[in-house]
Amino acid sequence: MKRIAVLISGGGSNLQAIIDGIEAGEIQAEIGVVLSNRKAAHGLERAKKHNIPTEYICKLHYDDNDIFNDAIIEKLAAYKIDFVVLAGYLSILSKKFVQAYPNRIINIHPSLIPAFCGMGYYGLKVHEAALEYGVKVTGATVHFVDEEADTGAIILQDTVQVQQEDDSETLQQRVLKIEHALLPKAVKLMAENKLQIVGRRVLIKE
Ligand code: GRF
Repeated sequence: MKRIAVLISGGGSNLQAIIDGIEAGEIQAEIGVVLSNRKAAHGLERAKKHNIPTEYICKLHYDDNDIFNDAIIEKLAAYKIDFVVLAGYLSILSKKFVQAYPNRIINIHPSLIPAFCGMGYYGLKVHEAALEYGVKVTGATVHFVDEEADTGAIILQDTVQVQQEDDSETLQQRVLKIEHALLPKAVKLMAENKLQIVGRRVLIKE
């Protein structure tokens, strides 16, 4: 069975969706560790409730981002992780980290990439930008992580209609709902080795 690390920084509702998928028997995988770069991340409590090992690691304790990431790589190695899921993890991975898990790191982003993504687009800012632009449809994307922000090959996307009365918070809530279906689905595909990358396209093997 594949062992996953889930990296978080906040509420962990996407982590919860993965835990639920595993406990329901839909995903054949095991979460080896939940790692947070924020001590107060509620996701750590969610993990503990399900007896999943947790790690907290703070960037401020390291000289620079590369050394901080080296420490994470070392921690994950100890948990014998097969692939990594970024679920609301708000820190930039080093080149070495990405190269340590080639095509084995996935991320969820709350927009239809390539719109409203990249550096600076996180949390409510993504939804504010979508509303400001005036798009009628937004959504969520699960993608592979490469060395840039939000540029890796797209695994799955799903859409949400923008309503006239939406503000960034209502839109965020509706997008989160589809994230909770999309991310477990992608994790399942990863766990079953069903993804094949052809150029920038990710194909799902039968
Ligand atoms: C989600 O919107 C995710 O797409 C983004 O950060 C948020 C995390 O939410 N990367 P949660 O911590 O999973 O509740």
